[in-house]
Amino acid sequence: KELVFSGVQPTGNLHLGNYLGAITKFVTLQETHDCIYCVVDMHAITVWQDPAELTRNTREVTAAFIAAGIDPKKNIVFNQSQVTGHAELAWVFNCVARMGWLNRMTQFKEKAGKDRENASVGLYVYPNLMAADILVYRATHVPVGEDQKQHLELARDIAQKFNNDYGDSIRGRGFGDVFFPLPEPIIQGPATRVMSLRDGSKKMSKSEPSDYSRINLTDDADAIAQKIRKAKTDPEPLPSELKGLESRPEADNLVGIFAALDHKTKADVLRDYGGAQFSNFKSALVDLAVTKLGPIGGEMKKLVQDPAHIDAILADGSERAAKIADENMKAVKDIVGFVRR
Ligand code: TYM
Repeated sequence: KELVFSGVQPTGNLHLGNYLGAITKFVTLQETHDCIYCVVDMHAITVWQDPAELTRNTREVTAAFIAAGIDPKKNIVFNQSQVTGHAELAWVFNCVARMGWLNRMTQFKEKAGKDRENASVGLYVYPNLMAADILVYRATHVPVGEDQKQHLELARDIAQKFNNDYGDSIRGRGFGDVFFPLPEPIIQGPATRVMSLRDGSKKMSKSEPSDYSRINLTDDADAIAQKIRKAKTDPEPLPSELKGLESRPEADNLVGIFAALDHKTKADVLRDYGGAQFSNFKSALVDLAVTKLGPIGGEMKKLVQDPAHIDAILADGSERAAKIADENMKAVKDIVGFVRR
C-alpha cells in the first residue's frame, strides 16, 4: 500500500521554494494517499538553534501546513522528536550506511563549508536520520524539492542494503523477502528548484542573508510586491517558447514561479506572456502571488497566536505516528536480533 511521508525543518524563514517545491504537493497528495507530514526538529539541531526559536519555528511550520490546507485529522502532522522510532532507526542506519556514501553528499559539503572539522557529527549523519524518518513508517512516496534528490537516493540504498544484509532474518516473519520499500521521490512540476530572486544561479534558501532573495510565507502584500519588482531580470522581453528560457535563469525562475502558483505549465505562461516586458509580467506575478500567498500568511499569523492549539495538533499526530513507528520498530529489533520486552 502506498504511504506518503515528508518533512520540513523548523529553521525559520519558510519561503516560496518550500511552499511550491514541497508544501503544495503535500496538500494535493492528501486527496489520494495516506500522508504523514513531519516537522523535523531533530534535523534542525544539526546546526545550532536557539531553543526558544526552535520551539517557535516548530509551531510556525505546523501553522504553515495547516494554513496551506493540510488537514491534520485526515493526515498525520507531528514533530519528529515526539516519536522515538526516528532516533532508534537512525542508529541502526548509522550502522548500515557506509562512510563512503555519506562522503558523497553534496549538502553536507555545502553546509559544513571549509571548516569541516567543526561541523557537528549530526550534520554528517543527517541523511541517515532522514532515511529513518521515511522508513520507520515504511513509506513509499516522498514529495520533495530537487535539492533532496540525493538524500532520497541514499535512503533507497540504505533500505536495499538493510533488506540484503538481514535478508535471512527478514524471511519467515511474514514480510516476504524485503522489509523496507525503496521510497520513491516525487519531484514534479515547474518549481522543483525555486531560485533566489537576486541570483538565478543560487537556490532560494532559508539561510541566505538577503531577505530580498526570497519571498517568505509570512510576507505581507507590500513585501511580496517589492521583492518581485526588485527581482533580478535581463533586459529582453519574455520569449514565447520554452527554449527561449535557456541561459536566462532569472526569467526561467519567474516563469516557473508563475506557472506553479497558477497551476499551469511554463509553456502555458509563455503562451500568455511571450513578448511581454518584465514590468508587465511582474505586475501580473505580484497580483497572482499576493492572491495565493496573502491568505496563507494571514492564517499562519493567526494560528501561531494560539500555541496550545498547535501543540495539541502535534501531540495528537505524534500519538498516531508512534503507533505505526513502534510496531515497525518491534519488527526491526527482531530482524536485527535485539532482545526486547
Ligand atoms: P528543508 O526543510 O530544507 O525544505 C523543506 C522542503 O522544501 C524543499 N525546498 C525547495 N523546493 C524548491 N525550491 C527551493 N528553493 C527549495 N528549498 C527547499 C525541500 O526540497 C524540501 O522538500 N532534509 C529535508 C527535510 C527532511 C525530509 C525528511 C524530507 C527531513 N527528513 C524525510 C523528506 C523526507 C530538508 O532539509 O528540507
